[in-house]
Amino acid sequence: GEVETAHPMVDTPKVIAHRGANNQYNESTIPAYQIAAEYGVDALEIDLRMTDDGELIAMHDELIDRTTTGTGKASDYKLKEIKEFQTVEVFNNQTIEEEIPTLNEIMEVFSDTEHYYIETRLVDGKPVMEEPLIEMLNGYNLISKELVTIQSFSQISLAKIHELAPEIPLTLLFGKGKFNLKEATLVDYPFIGIESTDVTRKNVNELHKHGKEVHVFFTDLDKQKEEQERVKSLGVDGYFTDNIAFTKELLEEE
Ligand code: G3P
Ligand code: CA
Repeated sequence: GEVETAHPMVDTPKVIAHRGANNQYNESTIPAYQIAAEYGVDALEIDLRMTDDGELIAMHDELIDRTTTGTGKASDYKLKEIKEFQTVEVFNNQTIEEEIPTLNEIMEVFSDTEHYYIETRLVDGKPVMEEPLIEMLNGYNLISKELVTIQSFSQISLAKIHELAPEIPLTLLFGKGKFNLKEATLVDYPFIGIESTDVTRKNVNELHKHGKEVHVFFTDLDKQKEEQERVKSLGVDGYFTDNIAFTKELLEEE
């Protein structure tokens, strides 16, 4: 596959706020994104789930159990029902409860002041969140302003996005231990998302040779700092960071 457009490597890697400033406030909530924005990050990372009545909400897990006061699948609730639950997390021995935001509510707050790095996924095996997502992004003029990147583990989802809005830069994600260099170099998308332990010098160099940027995410919080230092030495292009202050400082070092 040919790379459709030239995407020059950025000199300064991108700091992408993974689920907002999730080490300071309940992940994927508006305050978590506000804190991230105050740091001056390059993008806000937002995972999407779809409710039973077709609304897009910011939520990582399929089940609402880990992050909220509720239980069960997000997709089994109507928006009005899911809004009755709160996200809940403990920071410094303090329990914080905070509303589950819709994507629309997040965009109401940040409008065109931030770059949105949105993760799509299939819903019960079907690409159904892509159309309403593109419609919403167009409603805020975010695509024409180049304020959107879309990432997915699903090539079906990315293909659908590409068909609906070919100007959006896309990221194909590979799960931990599942990185496939051949597959990554064959897709036409400019960015490849890899879990840090799959980031080797060879993988980074090959992806760069094919004109791709490498955006790294981290699944082991305890090893994230050393992993960020390691992948920095390999010249990666973006960090889905769970510690914005650390990453910004790391990237400022010579
Ligand atoms: O989007 C990069 C990273 O977020 C992918 O992993 O599971 O945290 O969404 P996950
Ligand atoms: Ca994600």
